[in-house]
Amino acid sequence: MKLIWLLKRKLCNYFPFRLYQIYIRLKNIFSTPAFGYCSASTQIGYPFLATKPKNVFLYEYTRINPGAKIIIYTGKFKLKKYSEIAYGCTIITGNHTPTVGIPQYVLGHSHINDRENDVIVEEDVWIGANVTLLSGCHIGRGCVIGACSLVNKEIPPYAVVVGIPARIIASKFSIEQILKHEAKLYPFNERFNRDYLENLFSTYYKEMRSIGVDSFDI
Ligand SMILES: CC(C)(COP(=O)(O)OP(=O)(O)OC[C@H]1O[C@@H](n2cnc3c(N)ncnc32)[C@H](O)[C@@H]1OP(=O)(O)O)[C@@H](O)C(=O)NCCC(=O)NCCS
Repeated sequence: MKLIWLLKRKLCNYFPFRLYQIYIRLKNIFSTPAFGYCSASTQIGYPFLATKPKNVFLYEYTRINPGAKIIIYTGKFKLKKYSEIAYGCTIITGNHTPTVGIPQYVLGHSHINDRENDVIVEEDVWIGANVTLLSGCHIGRGCVIGACSLVNKEIPPYAVVVGIPARIIASKFSIEQILKHEAKLYPFNERFNRDYLENLFSTYYKEMRSIGVDSFDI
């Protein structure tokens, strides 16, 4: 490992390698990244940065607004159907492990002892502007993540969370509204049933308000 690192360091200062780095940067700017999966219906706003597009999976009817940064080394990022990420969000799947004898300048580049965990966003989630999703976080179906929040753990389905670290302040819908909503969005076998939702609400949303409404004004 040390040998590879030394080799990399030598190469980094070698002129053709610098040219190669410039070529890679230009390629990233002007070409569509080769994602692990990106549906034809996905919309991506630029500027957009993904350090490892092949580990990024963007499913049907998803949208990433401009300014997103997906910083990945070995982890994966999955954005499931109907979900949207607002402007300026950051997704990070890794953590460096401070290691005796290795300066940060080297550690950050070599990824020695890194810990990586996938970041998963389930269906129909709204991630507000400038949110940060950290390594290992898993956002349940239908959640709302308030602007500028930081999420670093599991968030239950239909939660509205805000702050750093994000905490639950409400549910997105009531149980009745979720049943109605899911009947329109998902085939029968993908829907949450009433028993599951009652259990969810008694665990996480006791005496909390829900923020959704039943219909829209035309
Ligand atoms: C999460 C959100 C939807 C909640 O909206 P809401 O139901 O109207 O919530 P309220 O404004 O009544 O706020 C409820 C509480 O949460 C707090 N809060 C709301 N949003 C917050 C946020 N993003 N960060 C920290 N706290 C927040 C409020 O200060 C309030 O706290 P209090 O009860 O102690 O006074 C909204 O605040 C939000 O962040 N929206 C995202 C907007 C966005 O990013 N749009 C991008 C375009 S797609």
